[in-house]
Amino acid sequence: MKGLILSGGKGTRLRPITHTSAKQLVPVANKPVLFYGIEAMAAAGITDLGIIVAPETGNEIRAAARDGSAFGVSITYVEQEEPLGLAHAVLTAEEYLDGSPFVMYLGDNLLRNGISDLVQTFTTEQPDALILLTPVPDPENYGVAELVDGRVSRLVEKPAQPATNLALVGVYMFTPAIFGAARSITPSDRGELEITDAIQSLVDSGSRVDPHIVHGWWKDTGQVQDMLEANRLILDDLEERIDGECVDSRVEGRVVIEADARVERSTVRGPAVVGAGASITDAYIGPYTAIGENVTIASAELEYSIVLSGSTVRDLEYRIEASLIGRNVRIGRGPILPKAYRFVVGDNSEISIL
Ligand code: TTP
Repeated sequence: MKGLILSGGKGTRLRPITHTSAKQLVPVANKPVLFYGIEAMAAAGITDLGIIVAPETGNEIRAAARDGSAFGVSITYVEQEEPLGLAHAVLTAEEYLDGSPFVMYLGDNLLRNGISDLVQTFTTEQPDALILLTPVPDPENYGVAELVDGRVSRLVEKPAQPATNLALVGVYMFTPAIFGAARSITPSDRGELEITDAIQSLVDSGSRVDPHIVHGWWKDTGQVQDMLEANRLILDDLEERIDGECVDSRVEGRVVIEADARVERSTVRGPAVVGAGASITDAYIGPYTAIGENVTIASAELEYSIVLSGSTVRDLEYRIEASLIGRNVRIGRGPILPKAYRFVVGDNSEISIL
């Protein structure tokens, strides 16, 4: 059994972060989203991994995950020249997959309980494909599955009137039958070869497609709100560890302070993580916050937020919340009057003054 992680794509919904970096490398609880997927594969005993990358972000992903030995897996990178859809990504990896059954995992997805269960079911039941489903309150926003006699009978992408509340989760198990199905479909209205169409084609040709209902949370981190929510969910499982230095500070609840981080005259209320080399002074770090490596927070308050490495936040009057702050960003207040806002902000940024 092989694994295929899709880590290409455009990431338009996470701009401006994705103007300069792959969305799969945005850290959740200070660990790139992609690494959770690689670890889930390794935990399920899948050690031969292919990672689909885009030409723009491939090098960055290669530099982060390398040959996979740090995770106990072996990684082969497969470049997809254009993000022409999930089924197109599968076809791009056909040579690498070489007739093996495989798990396909969307590189920006997180599954609390991993994929071991699913791999086990697929191996014993031996359907032609197995798809993960989870009940959601708003199925009209997802690919939705209909079932007949315990098998998948129909998949509909974002149906106006959903027949069930079972949304497709970003993990699939396939046999090589998927290649013929992916070749048989045409691009959708958004110009992509959709994996839902390929799976529907499998069903229509009489192949057996089984559902597997996910227990435990699942999160697609394609948008900022999802990223913050994923950060919250992962931090909820955090175990306390203080390796850095705390001076005249209060550290409450489940907090990780990495080595070489320094917290001075501050309060850190968990669950929260403070990355290596960070400096927190006269500050408040509230629940569900991940402070990246070498970040400086001085005379400022943050809560339910992610701050990426190298950034500085200082001298703010109000608390920052529900925010995703990129790498090497500087946010601060100057002493000069009159009071005014002064921004140097990249394309597609979003600033809310509440
Ligand atoms: P999506 O989030 O559906 O697509 P996207 O990354 O292009 O994002 P956006 O809609 O914001 O522009 O992709 C799910 C995962 O699959 C993600 O990790 C990127 C990856 N992917 C590929 O590797 N190749 C592709 O052709 C597509 C569409 C996605």
